[in-house]
Amino acid sequence: MFSVLVLVLGIESSCDETGVALYDSELGLLAHALHSQDAMHRDYGGVVPELASRDHIKHVLPLLQQVLQQAGVSRTAIDAIAFTRGPGLAGALLVGASIANGLGLALRKPAIGIHHLEGHLLSPLLVQNPPSFPFVALLVSGGHTQLMYVADVGIYKILGETLDDAVGEAFDKTAKLLGLNYPGGPEVSRLAELGTPGAVSLPRPMLYSGNLNFSFSGLKTAVLMHLRRSGSNICEQTKANLARSFVDAAVEVLTAKAVSALQRTGISRLIVAGGVSANCQLRESLHAAAKGKFDVYYPDLALCTDNGAMIALAGALRLQRNPKVVNMSYSFTVKPRWDLSAADPWGS
Ligand code: KG4
Ligand code: ZN
Repeated sequence: MFSVLVLVLGIESSCDETGVALYDSELGLLAHALHSQDAMHRDYGGVVPELASRDHIKHVLPLLQQVLQQAGVSRTAIDAIAFTRGPGLAGALLVGASIANGLGLALRKPAIGIHHLEGHLLSPLLVQNPPSFPFVALLVSGGHTQLMYVADVGIYKILGETLDDAVGEAFDKTAKLLGLNYPGGPEVSRLAELGTPGAVSLPRPMLYSGNLNFSFSGLKTAVLMHLRRSGSNICEQTKANLARSFVDAAVEVLTAKAVSALQRTGISRLIVAGGVSANCQLRESLHAAAKGKFDVYYPDLALCTDNGAMIALAGALRLQRNPKVVNMSYSFTVKPRWDLSAADPWGS
């Protein structure tokens, strides 16, 4: 498919997962290893940035060794090192960026700064029958909720996005309100399975807004108000009903807006990526909506949340499309805030 064959090491360290992977443009994903900090942050109910950075430092090199060993590859065979340049936690990003640039300097191979969301939105290309360009991407993570028109690698147009909380954030906050552990998405989803649909009435924010934007902070507040009204002796079934209604409301809005984005663009390929793409209720709802009308693609379940594989893949695709324009200066900056539609890894 591509003329230039490349072997790229990917390093992800933007938040609370250290991910390292090796991607070969001919053979696919050779190895990937991940260390999750979930257990460390659980007591705090969310990510503590300084703890996250220190933990990345501890794990990134052992994971690198593990990946090289798993793949049976020598580090000198690597053509480039891709790392998450942003958006994310500044200190955490600096760990991956330093390792990538240090390794690049030692090996005289380029270090390529990748936008974290670009990694997510290209990650469904790692499946066996990947979608072809163009496609619509529904990015649903802890920090972002966006609908994106993806013309090709590096050509992205935002069609709509959340005006406040990301949907993953709303899942996490709802989990906290219900007394569940961090990260809350999978926990709320599991509890929702025990709830009765329609038992609690919650709003569908911006469902009829006439555009492709979202809002999730009101939904979380509606859960809070319901809990306050229920008093302190709330039973497990009421919690499950509330979780069910929250999930149903969030999923209904995400599905409706994704379908609308496909209709508006005339595209029949939807990819869903980011942590919330692992959600089974969202997958069921999109599957039901798709029926003969459009195809839906997801990353493998293990690659929905943050990982090094998506960064390695994005690096490889960038390198193949632009082999001559690589930065070999090894001076780097990270971008804790970074708009994907303006993402240019070759720029400053
Ligand atoms: O993509 P990701 O790993 O990190 C960011 O880039 O933010 O996404 C993490 C988010 C968290 O908010 C987490 O609660 C949510 O994804 N999440 C889920 C599920 N698995 C992870 N939300 C709903 N259902 C899930 N199964
Ligand atoms: Zn992510």
